[in-house]
Amino acid sequence: MVLTAMAALSHMALMIIAIDGPAASGKGTLGKRLAQHYGYRHLDTGVIYRAVAKMLLDQGFDLTDEARAVAAAMALDPENFGHPELKSQRIGDAASVVSAIPTVREALVSFQRQFAAGPPGAVLDGRDIGTVICPNAEVKIFVVADPKVRAHRRTLEALARGEAADEALVLADILKRDERDRNRAAAPLKAAPDAHVLDNSNLDIEGGVRAAIAIVEAVRARR
Ligand code: DC
Repeated sequence: MVLTAMAALSHMALMIIAIDGPAASGKGTLGKRLAQHYGYRHLDTGVIYRAVAKMLLDQGFDLTDEARAVAAAMALDPENFGHPELKSQRIGDAASVVSAIPTVREALVSFQRQFAAGPPGAVLDGRDIGTVICPNAEVKIFVVADPKVRAHRRTLEALARGEAADEALVLADILKRDERDRNRAAAPLKAAPDAHVLDNSNLDIEGGVRAAIAIVEAVRARR
């Protein structure tokens, strides 16, 4: 009886799903779909760094100006996270630069952790969710995909938004971003030792979602 009640409680306990992966790997779409599936809240943490970068660019400041970048991080307003310009390649690139500043990352930790801690559960996607932001997340998924596949998807998305996009340049940008995000000293992009790697190079969106749900369910079944 007690055991049954404990099992039920542990099932109800707050669940955090951490999704990390390189640029354009599909983690954002997966995060959104997993959150819908489980009725959890979703935070695309890339948007936070993009918003900081946009504030600096809008004000004409250098992306490596640490004091201004930290001030921008502390002045963030989640109301602006839906701004369409945040999705652009220019801002994504700028976010990769600004996110390498350790003090900017530190300024953003508590916002992300508070988001993760709220009921009924949360899905966060980014680069360091499973390693730094939520190292105790119940489920960690590290999404990978062939860079050429990622470049192709990103090009189609940019074209659909009405932006000009040359696939070869998009691929070069993705490779440059991977390199910067993986090799920075502060919270580099890497899989947590307990992350489940999901390669979605050959999966469409629905296939990726099914694979991610299978991972979550397998973890839950072991609880
Ligand atoms: O996931 P994205 O493309 O929106 O992220 C934009 C940049 O922000 C990415 O190149 C690196 C940075 N980023 C980060 O350093 N840590 C995160 N948790 C999310 C994004």
